[in-house]
Amino acid sequence: MSYIHITERGYVATLTIDRREAMNALNSDLLTELSESLDKVRCGGARALIITGAGEKAFAAGADIAEMREFSPAQAEEYSKHGNAVMRSIELFEVPVIAAIGGYALGGGCELALSCDIRLASENAAFGFPEVTLGVIPGFGGLQRLTRAIGVNRAALLACTGDRIHAKRALELRLIDELCAQGELMERADALADRIARNAPLAVRAIKRVLRDCEGTPYAGTICAEASAFGGCFGTEDQLSAMGAFLKLNEKRPFVGR
Ligand code: HXC
Repeated sequence: MSYIHITERGYVATLTIDRREAMNALNSDLLTELSESLDKVRCGGARALIITGAGEKAFAAGADIAEMREFSPAQAEEYSKHGNAVMRSIELFEVPVIAAIGGYALGGGCELALSCDIRLASENAAFGFPEVTLGVIPGFGGLQRLTRAIGVNRAALLACTGDRIHAKRALELRLIDELCAQGELMERADALADRIARNAPLAVRAIKRVLRDCEGTPYAGTICAEASAFGGCFGTEDQLSAMGAFLKLNEKRPFVGR
């Protein structure tokens, strides 16, 4: 069964999670397919990636409760590790990943959104960590990422109450980065991805690498990593051509990624 649709438009790839009969809940097969889809996109040379959910009701309503119900502790830990690996590969994906969130992003679905670099949500989006109401906790790395995104106190408030919040509140808390009208979500996500994809691809990749590599690294180390990545951009065809065009030494040319 196929749960993920891959579409490619120019340099932008979109992964659509389609298990709408179960609110796009993330079962093991879907997680495996998501991981395989990332590998396919990686080979295709996309410069920006969008992850979204099919239908208007849900981005993803979490891990699959029916699948998890009878798990032993060891099976649950394995499932958590499986999901963790997929979330980590999104976080470390070579190009920026945009979560386009319409409807419910609950539990593991919210954790999936948190593993993306940029979160765009429509007005009907709702966020929350209902795991505590099911006797469990977030397990796809979401507690760590939630804390980084909104701070430890607000992470505690959300994760310990299981309360659901709407998109406007999520924006205030900085759980999401942009809010758009319902019906405009994919248009806005595509436009954002296009803006990223138009830029020098090696430079965009370097920015993502520096941002991700430096999370949790002491300040002095991050400054060095940034300097080194900055140096790495020089001498490329794109850098020479773009700076040359600014200085009117040559025509402005599209970026080629070399
Ligand atoms: C399995 C799910 C599901 C889920 C919805 N469905 N969420 N199945 N796992 N997480 C299924 C329902 O059983 C139902 O199937 C169908 O999708 C439609 O859902 P309804 O509940 O009828 O829709 P609605 O009344 O509109 O409510 C939507 C909802 C609700 C608010 C999203 O479905 C809901 O609360 N879902 C659970 C959300 C949740 O608790 N997520 C956290 C899971 S724990 P049928 O067959 O009846 O039509 C988690 C842990 C992550 O994520 C870490 C793991 C390591």
